[in-house]
Amino acid sequence: MKKIGIIIPAAGVGMRMSAPQGVAPTPKQFMLLAGRPVLAHAIEAFRCVAKFSQIVVALPADRIEEWERLREEHRVPRHTVCAGGATRFLSVRGAIASLDAGCEYIAVHDAARPLVSGELILRAIETARAHGSAIPVVPLTDSVRRVRDEGVSWAEDREALRAVQTPQVFRADILRTGYDHAVGTDFADDAAVVESVGYTVALCEGERRNFKITTPEDMVMAEALLARREAR
Ligand code: CTP
Ligand code: MG
Repeated sequence: MKKIGIIIPAAGVGMRMSAPQGVAPTPKQFMLLAGRPVLAHAIEAFRCVAKFSQIVVALPADRIEEWERLREEHRVPRHTVCAGGATRFLSVRGAIASLDAGCEYIAVHDAARPLVSGELILRAIETARAHGSAIPVVPLTDSVRRVRDEGVSWAEDREALRAVQTPQVFRADILRTGYDHAVGTDFADDAAVVESVGYTVALCEGERRNFKITTPEDMVMAEALLARREAR
């Protein structure tokens, strides 16, 4: 297999994880899950492609030294780091610039998704090899409503919607073109970036356990799922 660039945006501040009074002292990607930083779990998930991949992690500029200590302490697999930006888009764009030119595919995976399986990573790469891109999605379980002005809302068809996960994998030229030509810096994910310059994206099956750690309850659920995995 040709070389795969893996980008892990980990430069967010975790506003939704913090107490109402302000930003949490530790961003969620540095918090410990089963004794290891969330980010360490996310990096380790890519061991299935370690032989032919290069990992670049975008970190908050003022926490790079802290991470250098943590990666030593927890013996996190090999990766390079770069300073992230003010939005996820800017963090990913900076990390793309740090990748080897020879990468044929690029996978972008949120640091805040530590429970992704190797099977999903390989499925996304295979789908991208066939279609140029791959976006893991899962069906919604709650019913959904569109909300307009105060008090006005209506039911939407849940069957027509999907929740979007990462890793999102792209042929390298597609992702680079997206990040070079997109207008604005406020995109929810990489699929939205490449779509904004005219590409279509292919879907693949995600997994429920690959949820994004966003609020304190998510840490509790991730701990429980990891404990179950260790017990097996
Ligand atoms: N991210 C990033 N650079 C940013 C913002 C986000 O690299 N400027 C990363 C986060 O670290 C995370 C991923 O993008 O791994 C998904 O973002 P999200 O879950 O929204 O994390 P935060 O932005 O940190 O959280 P919040 O939106 O609650 O503040
Ligand atoms: Mg965010």
